[in-house]
Amino acid sequence: MCYAIPGKVEKIEEKTVIVDYFGEKRKAYNELEDLSCGDYIYAQGGFVIKKIPLFEAESILNVWKEEFFNLQETDLKLSRLNLKEKGVSRELIQILDKAIESKPLKKEELLYLLSIDKDEEAELFFKAANFLRQKYHKNSCCVHGIIEISNYCRKNCGYCGISIQNRNLRRYRMNREEILKAAYEAIENYGFKALVLQSGEDTGYDIKELAGIIEEIKMKWPALIFISFGEIGLDNLEVLYKAGARGMLMRFETSNPQIYKNIHPGQDLNSRIEHIKRAYKIGYLVLTGGLVGLPGQTNEDVINDIFLAKDLHAEMFSIGPFLPHPDTAMAGCFPVKEKYMAKVLALARLIDNDNAKILVTTALETLSSKARKKVLLAGANSLMLNVTPLEYREFYAIYPNRAHAQETIETQINEAISLLRSLGRAPTDLSI
Ligand code: 5AD
Repeated sequence: MCYAIPGKVEKIEEKTVIVDYFGEKRKAYNELEDLSCGDYIYAQGGFVIKKIPLFEAESILNVWKEEFFNLQETDLKLSRLNLKEKGVSRELIQILDKAIESKPLKKEELLYLLSIDKDEEAELFFKAANFLRQKYHKNSCCVHGIIEISNYCRKNCGYCGISIQNRNLRRYRMNREEILKAAYEAIENYGFKALVLQSGEDTGYDIKELAGIIEEIKMKWPALIFISFGEIGLDNLEVLYKAGARGMLMRFETSNPQIYKNIHPGQDLNSRIEHIKRAYKIGYLVLTGGLVGLPGQTNEDVINDIFLAKDLHAEMFSIGPFLPHPDTAMAGCFPVKEKYMAKVLALARLIDNDNAKILVTTALETLSSKARKKVLLAGANSLMLNVTPLEYREFYAIYPNRAHAQETIETQINEAISLLRSLGRAPTDLSI
């Protein structure tokens, strides 16, 4: 399976190349030294990833061409919007009318949308978000892989099952060979073009070791590599960028400093935000967001989280529900409902309609097995499949009963692709 469409290089201006996809032009940042006009390439997240031999590109494009336009048609049909639905308030229609014209909504309007309860009204809100997703992002849905390389963590986050406080967890740390093997499988055998390497804040890896692993992956099996190792230090962000990482996934968890303090004893929200800002400054694509349903969190806080993610230049929003873990201090809390999460993601699409991708988080899928489809039809357009070796996956227990924890990579891909096909989505990160 393929998660990117080959593009043809039309023009090279220093580090920027113009790439042609079925007649549409896109810009990409090129770091390959031997690229010429006429070459076929894969790009991800705006970066040229690798060159593809002509015969390979042409045969992939032949398959894509027909399928791609069919998918687009299906998506277009599914994202039609009629704001004259019955049983919904005039106020809602006025707000959505404004939203679909991409006018910024007032705080009261955003709060109104989050407080919708009636099913017909929520459905119309989701359709408006889906309409905007289609309008600005077309039918692309990026599919990243994630390898959870270690569940050791020095932090004591109150909600997290792999925090240092949890003594009931079997800890693992993949070694260099294991990480390389998992990356090789994901990229070469399964066709992933973007890979997240994630761990707790594990002091057991030396930064040079991580840099070496990233360098080796990039050299042998080119892909867009995201790091997600927590607060590794601002200088170390530079080190891993130099090694070839081009994306960083780090949530700020909550934009409310008091809530942040309550759930992260002794930690500082500003330091976390500093990391995210620095990563962006260095040139990383930033994936960020917060947890929804934290004790004391209000609708206003959740809206502020979306704005903070946007202000931090998120290339992708990763906003997921907090799921209580039995071996943490927050075991007695209750998670939010699927419908509320869908409203939050739809709101994120209204707030940042033309820019950030929106991830369907595994936590949301854990909350409800139907959520993936529901939120793909409510503004979301990104999936992350778990490519951690099965022997370790269950121990990356940030919350209990994680969706897909027992599924092979193949099963996850088949499920994801068949859902995307049924919705007319192309598994690429290109909105062409
Ligand atoms: N529920 C949901 N998400 C969680 N995370 C950690 N613990 C939980 C939980 N109990 C998320 C945090 C972290 C990411 C890696 O996992 O948001 O940033």
